[in-house]
Amino acid sequence: MSRRIAILPDAVADQIAAGEVVERPASVVKELVENALDAGARHIRIAVENGGKTLIEVSDDGSGMGRDDAVLAVDRHATSKIRSAGDLVGVTTFGFRGEALPAIASVSRFALVTSDGESEATELTITGGRIDQVAAAARQRGTSVTVRALFFNTPARRKFLRSAASETRAIHETVATLALAHPEAGFELEVDAASRLHVPPAQDAVERLAAIWGRDLAGTLVPVRYAAGPFRVTGYAQRPGDARPTGRRAQLFVNGRPFKDPFLVRAAEAGYRAAIHPGDRPSLFLDIGVTPADVDVNVHPAKLEVRFRERIAAERAVEEAVRDAIGALVAAVPVGDWRPMPVAPAAGAPWRDAPGTLDLGELLAPEPGAAAPREESAFRVPLVQLFDTYILYEAPEGIVIVDQHSAHERVLFERVMAQLGHAAAVGQRMLLPLTLELTDEELDAVEAHREELVRVGFDVDTFGGRTVVLHTVPAPHPRFDAGACFREMVADLARGRFGGWANRLERFAATFACRAAVKAGETLSQAEMRELLLQLFATDLPPHDVHGRSTIVQLPREELERRFGRR
Ligand SMILES: Nc1ncnc2c1ncn2[C@@H]1O[C@H](COP(=O)(O)OP(=O)(O)OP(=O)(O)O)[C@@H](O)[C@H]1O
Ligand SMILES: [Mg+2]
Repeated sequence: MSRRIAILPDAVADQIAAGEVVERPASVVKELVENALDAGARHIRIAVENGGKTLIEVSDDGSGMGRDDAVLAVDRHATSKIRSAGDLVGVTTFGFRGEALPAIASVSRFALVTSDGESEATELTITGGRIDQVAAAARQRGTSVTVRALFFNTPARRKFLRSAASETRAIHETVATLALAHPEAGFELEVDAASRLHVPPAQDAVERLAAIWGRDLAGTLVPVRYAAGPFRVTGYAQRPGDARPTGRRAQLFVNGRPFKDPFLVRAAEAGYRAAIHPGDRPSLFLDIGVTPADVDVNVHPAKLEVRFRERIAAERAVEEAVRDAIGALVAAVPVGDWRPMPVAPAAGAPWRDAPGTLDLGELLAPEPGAAAPREESAFRVPLVQLFDTYILYEAPEGIVIVDQHSAHERVLFERVMAQLGHAAAVGQRMLLPLTLELTDEELDAVEAHREELVRVGFDVDTFGGRTVVLHTVPAPHPRFDAGACFREMVADLARGRFGGWANRLERFAATFACRAAVKAGETLSQAEMRELLLQLFATDLPPHDVHGRSTIVQLPREELERRFGRR
C-alpha cells in the first residue's frame, strides 16, 4: 500500500497559514503595524498604493533587528516574544505566534530592511516565500517592510480582493484602530502618495480620540471608569442625548488590544437602559482591563477576537460601567439643551407664598407605592394645561412645557422597572373578572411575559382556548382602562413593536409605561398635573421618553426678552 499522507513543504504550509492570517491588504497592514508597536516604535509610517494590492510599506523607528534575527524573523514560528506555551498566558505583545512575516512573505514580493542601530543594517528580499538575497544596507535604527504584488502567486485569493477604494477603507480603519489603542505612538498613513491620517506621538487618550473620530464626536463622550471583580473598564461612552441611529463608532479593547465582540457592544448599549431611543446606537470606546490569565487572546487566526474566562461577568461589568457613567451624567451634567430648572415660582411673582427653590428629589420618596409625605406648597405655581396635552408653568429661568403622556410614561417606566426588580406590585382585585379574547400570537406573548405581567399587577389566567381572564389589574391613575391597556400591551409585545430593547424587562416596562400612561387629549385637574410633575422630577431618567421624544421643552426667559426686544 502506498502512503497517502505527506508532510507539506514549508512554503505550502506558509501559504496556508497566510490564508488565515492574511486575508486582505488591511491584514498585512495590521500585522506590520503591530510588529512596529511591539518593537516600541514612536513613529510609524504606512504607505499603500492601489488599496494595498500593489504596494504596502510600513516603516518604524523601533528596536530593529541584527542580521541573524532578521533572517530568523521570516522563518515560521520564529518569534522573540514568547519562549514557551506558558508565556502565552499573560502575553502582552500583539504578536506571539511568529507567523505573520513568513505568511506575508509567502504570498508577495517582500523586502525587509532593518537595523538595530549598532551593527550594519540588513536588507532581505523574498519572493513567494523564497529568500532571494540577504545583503548589507544603510538605515537608521528601525525596520521597513515593503510588500508588493500581494497574492501574486495565489490567484484564488487575489480574486477575492475588493475594489481599491474598499481595501483602502479597510486599511484606514485598521490604522485608525491601532492609533486609538496607542496614543503614545505617532502614525502617518499615505494612500497613493496623499496623506490620509497623521497623528503625532505622545497624545493623551482624549486628544487621540478627537484626532481619529473628530472633535464633534469626541465632544459628546463622557469618561467611563469602573471596577468590579477582576474587571476594570475605562474609556468613553457617548452622552445619551447625542446618540443617533447611524454613524456610530464602537471600539473595544482588552488590555489595550483591539478586538471585536458584538455581544459586548450590546451589553454596553444595555447600560443605557431607557436613556436612549431603542434605535439609537451610542458611540463607545471601552478598554476592558483584566488579569491576562483571565482572557485568551489566541482564539482567532488574526487575533480579532478574544475569549474571556468569565464571559457573563465581563458583559455585566461593561453594562454596569456604562450605566455608571451615564447615571452620573444624567444627575450632574446638562444633557442636550435641557437643564433641570428649579420648579418653584419666580421671585417677585404674585404667588410668592410658596417656598424657595425646592429639591423635589428629596421631597419625594422614590420608592413606588410608598405614600410620600407631600409638601402641599410644592408646585403651587399655576399649572396650565394646553390642548389637553401639555402642562405649562413658569420657573425662575423661563417657561417650562411638559408633555403629559411622555412625562407619565417616564414615571411609570421607572416604577415598573423597580417593581420588576423587587417585590410584586399588588394589583386591584376586580369585582367582576375581565374576560378578553386574544390571537394566538398574543397568547404566546402573554405566556412569554406572564411573570412580568403578574409583577406589574395583571393576574392573568389562560384556559387553553383564546380567552384570558384578568382577576387583578394595576391602577396607575384613576381613569386607567385596564382592559384596553392589557390588550394594547399584549398586541405590542406580540408585534415586537418594542423590539429594540436589549433587555426584556425593559422592553416590557416600556410597553407597559406607554400603554398605561395618561394619553394626549385627556383633561387633567390641577391636582393631577401637580402630582404628575412631582413624580416626574423625582425620576432620574433623561429628559425624553422611552421613544426618544422630548418630555420637557423650555423657553428660557432670555429668549423671551430677546424676542420682545428687551435686551
Ligand atoms: N518591525 C519590527 N521591528 C523589530 N522586530 C521585528 C519587527 N517585525 C518583526 N520583528 C521580529 O520578528 C519576529 C517575527 O515577527 P512575526 O510578526 O512574524 O511574529 P510575531 O510578531 O512574533 O508573532 P505573530 O505571528 O503573532 O505576529 C518578531 O517576534 C520580532 O522579533
Ligand atoms: Mg507579529
